[in-house]
Amino acid sequence: MAKTLQVLGIESSCDETGVALVALRGDDLPVLLAHALYSQIEMHQAYGGVVPELASRDHIRRVLPLTQQVLLESKRSLAEIDVVAFTRGPGLAGALLVGAGVACALAAALKKPVLGVHHLEGHLLSPFLSADPPQFPFVALLVSGGHTQLMRVTGVGRYTLLGETIDDAAGEAFDKSAKLLGLVYPGGPALAVLAEQGRADAYALPRPLLKSGNLDFSFAGLKTAVMVQARKLALAQGCAVATLPATVLADLAASTQAAIVEVLVKKSLSALVQTGMKRLVVAGGVGANRRLREQLNAECAKRQVRVHYPELHLCTDNGAMIAMAAAMRLQSGQQTASAVYAFDVKPRWPLDLL
Ligand code: KG4
Ligand code: ZN
Repeated sequence: MAKTLQVLGIESSCDETGVALVALRGDDLPVLLAHALYSQIEMHQAYGGVVPELASRDHIRRVLPLTQQVLLESKRSLAEIDVVAFTRGPGLAGALLVGAGVACALAAALKKPVLGVHHLEGHLLSPFLSADPPQFPFVALLVSGGHTQLMRVTGVGRYTLLGETIDDAAGEAFDKSAKLLGLVYPGGPALAVLAEQGRADAYALPRPLLKSGNLDFSFAGLKTAVMVQARKLALAQGCAVATLPATVLADLAASTQAAIVEVLVKKSLSALVQTGMKRLVVAGGVGANRRLREQLNAECAKRQVRVHYPELHLCTDNGAMIAMAAAMRLQSGQQTASAVYAFDVKPRWPLDLL
């Protein structure tokens, strides 16, 4: 019988410290035993965005207590960990170094190997932790705070870039638009909540690159269009943008969300046509957006395309996706864990160069 391997995963690329333990046995899909997360969002809110130095210092404070919590919840001991995985990039250099340093120190002390994981591969494989896991091959729509990409995925580590944003990511478009509407950081979820009260067709905002004929995205101009529209309304009302009537702000939020979602949905459908694939996997923080899910579900159902998402609480950064990606890389033979503890991190690291 195949031996069960326990893989610890540590995520520290940005403003969430995540730790998780998964069990890997033979060819079975790895199983999540426990995960723990600490979000620094409240700390960064005062500054309107992530402060890298504060993020690194906070990861240092959180990572070992979270590891202890995961071991307690999974009823495992440190000695039972077989591989220690960590996010090697992309992300904030200082923040990544905390996870990498702790992972390598832990592994060296336990005399166990380490494995560096690509953060976006973690997102991409996170739907395999859901109750409805996908099967290869599929088109992946990766929509996080820093990345917006369509990929052809034929197996673990087999990723071909089909298109990506040429400027801002979809998450950035949510966050920057939300900021100028006076919402707190990170604005994506707040804008989505406000949009529930508004009319999506209230303001005609651009759908950038919708007719470009390729699978690239551009969201920088949308944020400017939202700003121009909001300032025009504020000028007419003789107030600041943030103090516009609640109904106007809700209409602006709903119109912004509709523009972003329409582009993401139409480009994803084009990617499915272009590749001839019948399966779509959505991953990354923006994948939690309700309107995006509703529209993708409706459009994909019409075309007999299956859509898969991560569990809602695993859409944004977490340790489970890092432990899972490490386990799936080991299982597929794409990577072996190493006993060399001279670690490095890769703040910039394109996924298709894995
Ligand atoms: O994947 P993620 O946690 O971090 C990165 O790897 O970048 O994604 C964070 C992004 C942020 O831009 C956040 O505003 C956005 O995901 N986000 C959402 C929602 N939840 C998170 N955007 C729209 N609607 C949501 N419900
Ligand atoms: Zn992420």
